[in-house]
Amino acid sequence: MAFLFNSDAARAAIFRQAFARELPELEFYHSSECFEPEKIRYLITWNAPGDLSRFCNLEMLFSIGAGIDQFKPETIPGHVKLVRMVEQGIVRMMQEYVVLGVLTLHREMLAYRQQQSRGVWQALATPQAPDRRVGFLGLGTLAQAAIDRLKPFGFPLAGWSRSTKKIESVTCFHGDGQLGDFLRGTDILVCLLPLTEQTSGILNAQLFSLLPAGARLLHVGRGPQLDQGALIEALDSGRLAAAMLDVSEPEPLPEDHPLWSHPKVIITPHIASVTQPHTAAQSVIENIRRHRAGRNLIGLVDRTLGY
Ligand code: NDP
Ligand code: OXD
Repeated sequence: MAFLFNSDAARAAIFRQAFARELPELEFYHSSECFEPEKIRYLITWNAPGDLSRFCNLEMLFSIGAGIDQFKPETIPGHVKLVRMVEQGIVRMMQEYVVLGVLTLHREMLAYRQQQSRGVWQALATPQAPDRRVGFLGLGTLAQAAIDRLKPFGFPLAGWSRSTKKIESVTCFHGDGQLGDFLRGTDILVCLLPLTEQTSGILNAQLFSLLPAGARLLHVGRGPQLDQGALIEALDSGRLAAAMLDVSEPEPLPEDHPLWSHPKVIITPHIASVTQPHTAAQSVIENIRRHRAGRNLIGLVDRTLGY
């Protein structure tokens, strides 16, 4: 019975140590080593490594990241449990990035950067936090953790999810029917949705038209959720005032893509949050223990919903 780590050797070494300590009965392989595929019960990877059917005894497939949209669901046998990454490190980094992004957009840092490039020293009017409404598309693990960190600033907070939610001090909306009401009350929109058929292209001209004029976008979900042409039009027309993008399609954008040099856009190279091997190993070990004990898994993907 074995665990296969299909990613970089440095993180594999950290996982190997944790597994030797906590699950010594399980053989551990890095993908660069020789192993018998039929021994593999547990596999962690970013992309599925080729034909999964050779792992005929596979029970659990762990994504090394929070997203699972990189997998082709039809290639994963139905009985294999697909698990996304939920671990302290990824959560902490997303909290930092979202606070950074919201404050950057709230405090006009793009406009100040423009002013600096022209040698301009001029204060801009900025509303107080209680007058800037921050809304989250997606109210899952990462969005709720980021919301917790934003609470002390005093922004009115809201969120939109698929199912009904109750979160203290957050106005919760759900379903397509409530999307418009949510957007009309959002000045800084944070996208933390998983990429699915339903969310692909969701950040489009129609959605932008429902936001208050001068709203701002912080996109940390997935590149294909954004219609880049619609964003550029919305920024150029003033409907949106600024955008901070951590994800794009493709990644990276082509060298000559207009978003690179757009004065109202900040781009970061998909670094909002990165799986941290020490904490991730603990979380995977915990899930293997839960699986063996027939307990609920943390981060189990609902294959019918696609996230
Ligand atoms: P979760 O699965 O915990 O949360 C997803 C949220 O999105 C849930 O609230 C869910 O609603 C909501 N949702 C899904 N589909 C819809 C829909 N059609 N309509 C309305 N709401 C919907 O995911 P995480 O918080 O762990 O991660 C979210 C995403 O963040 C990842 O999938 C990944 O794409 C992205 N990410 C980006 C990173 C980066 O560095 N840029 C790093 C890590 C993640 P409900 O609660 O009702 O199920
Ligand atoms: C993830 C990511 O899904 O880094 O973990 O985007």
